Formats: sequence, C-alpha cells, structure tokens
Amino acid sequence: MTAADSILIRSCAVSDIEQHLPQLAGLLQACVHDGASIGFILPFTLPESTAFWTQNVLPAVQRGRRLLLVAEQKGQIVGTVQLDWDSPANQQHRAEVRKLMVSPDYRRRGIARLLMQEVEARACQLPRSLLTLDTRSDDHAEPLYVSLGYTMAGVIPGYALAVDHGGLDATTIMYKQL
Ligand SMILES: CC(C)(COP(=O)(O)OP(=O)(O)OC[C@H]1O[C@@H](n2cnc3c(N)ncnc32)[C@H](O)[C@@H]1OP(=O)(O)O)[C@@H](O)C(=O)NCCC(=O)NCCS
Repeated sequence: MTAADSILIRSCAVSDIEQHLPQLAGLLQACVHDGASIGFILPFTLPESTAFWTQNVLPAVQRGRRLLLVAEQKGQIVGTVQLDWDSPANQQHRAEVRKLMVSPDYRRRGIARLLMQEVEARACQLPRSLLTLDTRSDDHAEPLYVSLGYTMAGVIPGYALAVDHGGLDATTIMYKQL
C-alpha cells in the first residue's frame, strides 16, 4: 500500500467549503509561505487566505462554474485543485486548471498526480476537451504536467512578482487535449 492509497479525492460543495474554511485557508497560507507562486505575495495573512476562499472560490462554486477538489487523509485536507469552466461563449470546450497545491508536509506522495487525474476525469464528464493552465517556469509542477501529457505552449518572461518580492518570475503556459 502506497501513501496515496489512503488519500480520498472528492469534490466540495458550498457547505463543505464553509465547513472546511479553516483547513483550506491554512493550506493555502502554508503553501504561499513555503514559496508557492499561486497568485499571492508575502506577507500573506490567514484572513487574506480565508478571503480568497470566501470571495473568489465559494461564489464561483455557488454559480456552478467551478469545481473544487480536495485530497483528504483521515479527514485532513492535504491538497486541492480547481477546475474553472467559466469560459467565454466561444470556448465552451475549454476549462482552466487553477491553484493545484499540496501541503508542504505531504509532498512527493503522488497526491498532486491523483488530483490532476480526477480533475481531468471530471472535465471529460462536463464535457470539456481542452484544459489550459499556467505555472511558474522551472517549478516542480512543470515535470508533473509534462508527465501527465500537457504541452508547453510558451513562456512569458517577467509574468509575476516573486512571492518574496525578489524580482519577476516567468510563467509557462500549458495545455492538454482530452
Ligand atoms: C507542485 C505540487 C502541487 C506537487 O505536489 P506533489 O503532491 O508533491 O506532487 P506528486 O507527488 O504528485 O508528484 C508528481 C510529479 O511531480 C514532479 N515533482 C513534484 N515535486 C517535485 C519536486 N520537488 N522536484 C522535482 N519534481 C517534482 C515529479 O515529476 C513527480 O513525479 P515523481 O514523484 O514520480 O518523480 C506541490 O509541490 C505544490 O503544492 N507546490 C506549491 C504550489 C504550486 O506550485 N502549484 C502549482 C501551481 S501551477
């Protein structure tokens, strides 16, 4: 039995998000403090992290335009990813993978891979046939996406402020036809 065998991947309804808000906020804050480039810069407080879930994710899930998946181990949320299918009218076949993150204490156990496999299965069901995402160039996520069959569309230099304000990071745009 591998570590990933004890991981449950499930989707979160609005009530789940409300119920698990402290865990979700804690997970996001821990990842940002660990150096993740996922849209935030330091200092990044717990109230700011909580606000992301309540003001960004929750309304989108409520509108039925976003899927939130979590990875749980013994009731503890240790990873998450989102599928945003709030696409324009001419891109109804496309969805965006957002905010893949795994708790720093639970990495290299295959949890991100499980989350991505499930997000792709759910995208197929919608149905969506094209997934797009972006990731900080040369980040750990890049080899994961490549191993899952994502193609690099290109690199945009100086795309985002580094999480510690130490300059600008490039981003890699990737896609996968399902
Ligand atoms: C990127 C991230 C989600 C990977 O989560 P994880 O659960 O540790 O990943 P997995 O164990 O499923 O690893 C899958 C593959 O990713 C790659 N990978 C993951 N972490 C890596 C690391 N530290 N160094 C090199 N490759 C790594 C490897 O190819 C790995 O496969 P392998 O273990 O068979 O070699 C995690 O490091 C994270 O949360 N980072 C911060 C948030 C972030 O950057 N998210 C990406 C936003 S686009």
